[in-house]
Amino acid sequence: MFESLQPMPADAILGLIVEHQEDPRAEKIDLGVGVYRTTEGATPVLDVVKQAERRLIDTQDSKAYLGTAGNASFNSAMQSLTFGQAEVGDRLLTVQTPGGSGSLRVAAGLILRAQDSATVWVSDPTWNNHVPLLGGAGLQLEPYPYYDSATHEIRIDAMLESLSAAPKGDLVLFHACCHNPSGLDPSEEQWRQITDVVAERELVPFIDMAYQGFANDLDTDAFAVRHMAGRVPEMIVSTSCSKNFGLYRERVGSLSFLVADSGTRQTLASQASSYVRTLYSMPPDHGAAVVSSVLHDAELRERWIVELNAMRNRLREMRELLYGALEEKAPGHDFSHLVRATGMFCFLGISVEQVGRLKKDFGVYMVDSSRINVAGITPGNVGYLAEAIAAVL
Ligand code: LMR
Repeated sequence: MFESLQPMPADAILGLIVEHQEDPRAEKIDLGVGVYRTTEGATPVLDVVKQAERRLIDTQDSKAYLGTAGNASFNSAMQSLTFGQAEVGDRLLTVQTPGGSGSLRVAAGLILRAQDSATVWVSDPTWNNHVPLLGGAGLQLEPYPYYDSATHEIRIDAMLESLSAAPKGDLVLFHACCHNPSGLDPSEEQWRQITDVVAERELVPFIDMAYQGFANDLDTDAFAVRHMAGRVPEMIVSTSCSKNFGLYRERVGSLSFLVADSGTRQTLASQASSYVRTLYSMPPDHGAAVVSSVLHDAELRERWIVELNAMRNRLREMRELLYGALEEKAPGHDFSHLVRATGMFCFLGISVEQVGRLKKDFGVYMVDSSRINVAGITPGNVGYLAEAIAAVL
């Protein structure tokens, strides 16, 4: 049977992990997949996660099934982390999902159950996996303008114009913060303008929040979610704890639906339950139990925020370091967009061919679009990196 299948190309992001691992050059640099790294190039388990795991081992008394919606105390903690004090009454449903991707996938399935011809507008560009994941689930996708690769600015006017022409009832996928891949987010004023259009056109915001705490503090990064929640009758929010808790391989995420009324919420809960049951039955518990114990404990939560702030600050410092090094090694080229972006990513703004030369000649790995993960930069490798970039310009 399976001999009829054709081989697939490696994933544009995950494939880089293997390529980089197999490169024997000592000076190689991995700016590919979005994982945080320390100055030593490690992705350690957060101290607070270790503490919560130790507590869990001592206190957890059962591994019995929890159910399709996962860990209830995790779900309530994620609701507060995501929506804060937003006025949502009893219209909010949150379920635990296997990571942010699992959340997007369950959202796609439920959108299609509600409306089999649903169209989702996605930013141009967007995360490499958004289109295959959501499109592969059966959703129709349309692009809206987002990033100007010549000026390295958000195309806010074109974006507003495009969304103003979207048909009523369509969904719009937004990145709450740390836009992946550009690293450029709308300002709070621009989010207000976007929300006005969304509310006026009766569009449904579908917000992907995979990097809360990586652009600014946790509340500032949730501005778009909370502002829209107060203005629209319906919205969907997918979150991930991969980055801000460093729980990448544990697959911890949540999916929230803000719906018109509590009756719809109840019906949707039963739909979500039946959908998840046929997809993966229920999400894995360990990572969610860890997050729940951190978020429900004032002392652990405080420690988590300290670790999160340190990750964010290092990313910002590495942007500045690379920008400074490029000013020196590649004078006459403007890389100031590197420091205007936030979070893990931004575009270098070079061609696919130049990206290929960086890989082949210098062992510097990044996505073909020239998206770099600034966590791969260290004070020790930034000089080599800037020289390599200058050499291919
Ligand atoms: C990324 O964009 O590199 C991360 O979100 C990891 C992934 O799954 O692609």
